[in-house]
Amino acid sequence: MDTVYLNGEFMDADQARISPMDRGFLFADGIYEVIPVYNGVPFRLEEHLRRLARSLREVRLDDPLDGAGWRRLCEELVARNGGGHLSLYLQITRGVATRRDHAFPDPPVPPTVFMNTSPLPVPAADQPARTAGVAAVTLDDIRWDRCDIKSVSLLANLLLRQRAVDAGAAEAILIRDGQVTEGAASNLFLVRDGEIRTPPLSHHLLGGITRDLVIELCREHGLPVVECPLTAAELADADEIWLSSSTKDVLPVTTLDGRPVGDGRPGATWKILANHYIRFKRHLCGLD
Ligand code: PDD
Repeated sequence: MDTVYLNGEFMDADQARISPMDRGFLFADGIYEVIPVYNGVPFRLEEHLRRLARSLREVRLDDPLDGAGWRRLCEELVARNGGGHLSLYLQITRGVATRRDHAFPDPPVPPTVFMNTSPLPVPAADQPARTAGVAAVTLDDIRWDRCDIKSVSLLANLLLRQRAVDAGAAEAILIRDGQVTEGAASNLFLVRDGEIRTPPLSHHLLGGITRDLVIELCREHGLPVVECPLTAAELADADEIWLSSSTKDVLPVTTLDGRPVGDGRPGATWKILANHYIRFKRHLCGLD
């Protein structure tokens, strides 16, 4: 039985109970993080905790713990679930109110803090998603104007991802006013004329921890990378397209809207970057 953390206690997953009056349930009034854990070591934990603190500030929720407190909780939950490769999920909502009211509870109520883990399949080199790449479709970005906040209000993302799945694709790549923003649950890079490009940070996309690392690794290893606005036309004409996220690493997209990207196989630049990425993880987490 998996162990979860809920409001100060560790317990078996099937013992965890949350009131239906929780504002997370009623309004999706909360924020979350997903942190990959390799060999029991949370990957880029400081960066995830920094984004968590930012999301809390942006939705006007007091941070219930300091950095050291979060670190201790993350490490203890990972240890109680046997370490290994895990996806560590962390959610904080505005707590349980006595009545349903859009305005925040006054006086404030304690936030609900929930954490769990699930197995994280570590992408093997011979996994089809890596040897053949994945399919993606482009869709209108119907989300709100604050996609930089890692909010649990994900209904638009879910509808978009499901439309991609219905079309036989792994991800929806989102277009807002003719500009590429990101995937339904990932950031986006493309390669054109030998240059790696990704949309700049704005309220229209999430500042992905994996995105930052990809940019960092490109700079460290002399791969030309720029943050610049990307049009849907540039995307359609890209030599390579990559998706990045904590649970996917960096995945090549080899089919876009039913047409091959480049020669329809994972690109040469992706292979170089993916090798740097794997080496970095191995160095930090002793991954084989
Ligand atoms: N999602 N953009 C969106 C909309 C996302 O939901 C995610 C990740 C990312 C990539 O961020 P990061 O590299 O920090 O994982 C970008 C997580 C994995 C999820 O919702 O499960």
